[in-house]
Amino acid sequence: MKKIAVVTSGGDAPGMNAAIRAVVRKAIESGLKVIGIQRGFYGLVNNEMIDLDSRSVSGIINLGGTILRTCRFPELKEKSVQLRAVQLLRREKIDGLVVIGGNGSAQGAYALSKAGFRNVILIPASIDNDIYGTDTTIGFDTAVNTAVSAIDKIRDTATSHERIFIVEVMGRERGFIALAVAIASGSEIALIPEVKIDYKELCDIIERSVSLGKKSFIIITAEGAIKAEKLSQKLTQQIARKQMLKRSSNGLPLIDIKCSVLGYIQRGGVPTAISRILATEMGVMAVESLIAGNFSKVVCVQKNKLCLVALKEVAFNQKEIDIERYRRLISKTALV
Ligand code: F6P
Repeated sequence: MKKIAVVTSGGDAPGMNAAIRAVVRKAIESGLKVIGIQRGFYGLVNNEMIDLDSRSVSGIINLGGTILRTCRFPELKEKSVQLRAVQLLRREKIDGLVVIGGNGSAQGAYALSKAGFRNVILIPASIDNDIYGTDTTIGFDTAVNTAVSAIDKIRDTATSHERIFIVEVMGRERGFIALAVAIASGSEIALIPEVKIDYKELCDIIERSVSLGKKSFIIITAEGAIKAEKLSQKLTQQIARKQMLKRSSNGLPLIDIKCSVLGYIQRGGVPTAISRILATEMGVMAVESLIAGNFSKVVCVQKNKLCLVALKEVAFNQKEIDIERYRRLISKTALV
């Protein structure tokens, strides 16, 4: 092994730069040349490559985003594109590839492995923490902290105006961010894609709480469960139907619902120490794995220990949320 390449792919995640830095520094310390592939797998098939040295990655451990830039590249599903990528890796005499990304990147890395370039290692990076085989992913801790800090601020105004706030967090298919954020922010209700929403039950909870004197609420919803605006409309209809929008003596509605969509702030920002440490340790292990010939693997963390899981297993399995943990801590709606 003389030369390796590193690429960031798919949705960016805070901590990706820390991972790039660790890969480059460990590779150089091991006597390897390092190539940076820009703009994800698009850059791989379009030969957008730069030499990386120790200086290229100085001062980036604390930066969100990725210095290599990234993109989603569904074209890599096509066999002809995969073969073009493998040919280019061979032509550039790249002996090993480190891919830093999420589920789509795992499938892309596995496609390259199947198309003939087996010397690939994935470092799981996604704010969604929805990658099979690993307890956590680069960027998840930062995204949760970003969201919790925003929700603490929202709670101030929810309390002051005695309002219900529906806060929408990221998570198209999985509710890991929503569950963690709801627990950490002390939110009353969390809605996740894995659990069917029971609007009647939701309303009953709100009505019961209001009758017991609760004046404000925070409901966390993962974007894949229901969009905040849609939930607001549904709840307003249900609550109106139950005549809960009684005008209080000063003319204010007894229940006033507002929405806040956190959106892409969850994808940026200064990575937390936890995200940086995870990224650094995974980056070092990825290079060690390539040097040791442990190919087509994913660097995972299980019960606080780093380990390698087969890329195929990660690429074709879904990480399930701990429903019992959800029900014990947060669930206020029916199970699917
Ligand atoms: O996969 C991470 C993620 O942030 C999801 O939570 C979100 O739904 C998606 O990416 C947004 O994708 P894009 O950046 O392509 O809009």
